[in-house]
Amino acid sequence: MVQILIGYMGSGKSTVGKIMAKEQSLPFIDFDNYIEDKEGLSIPELFKTKGEIYFRKKEAAYLVELLSEETNAIISLGGGTPCFGNNINVILEATKNVFYLKLSVDKLVERLQKEKVQRPLIKDIANEALSEFIRKHLFERNFYYLQAHHIIAVGNESPSEIANKIMEKSA
Ligand code: S3P
Repeated sequence: MVQILIGYMGSGKSTVGKIMAKEQSLPFIDFDNYIEDKEGLSIPELFKTKGEIYFRKKEAAYLVELLSEETNAIISLGGGTPCFGNNINVILEATKNVFYLKLSVDKLVERLQKEKVQRPLIKDIANEALSEFIRKHLFERNFYYLQAHHIIAVGNESPSEIANKIMEKSA
């Protein structure tokens, strides 16, 4: 059964997913990279040249494709993946192991301030406005994120500690 990590940008989905995959000798798939490979463009390039609507359509189609192919892997999804179209249902139907990495707004701001340029949705938001943006965005997205089977509260633990916490809960 696939194990899926969801959560806001900067929540550590890929870092934690890689550790989980290594520990369990399973393949790791970063869904953003999967889309980039399929489209032959990076995520920032896709947003810039084709726009967000195109990206969301492709994201939904590739999600169905990936989850129908994979039976045993650790998958980290994009921050927005569960929050568009029917994606959350597609995800919940694929597995009983969906984990939401839940970080506080302050922690997300701290991490994302340093990594804004790579992220089309926040790259143009001034640092002073980032906290307010993330607070509102997370409030909207929590409706989807909180449908995960397991909510993993992330504080100051290391990625390995988080990976272990998740693997203890894995069904
Ligand atoms: C997005 C998150 C990104 C990427 C795209 C849109 C979002 O993934 O899919 O930039 O809507 O939150 P990460 O969460 O891996 O950064």
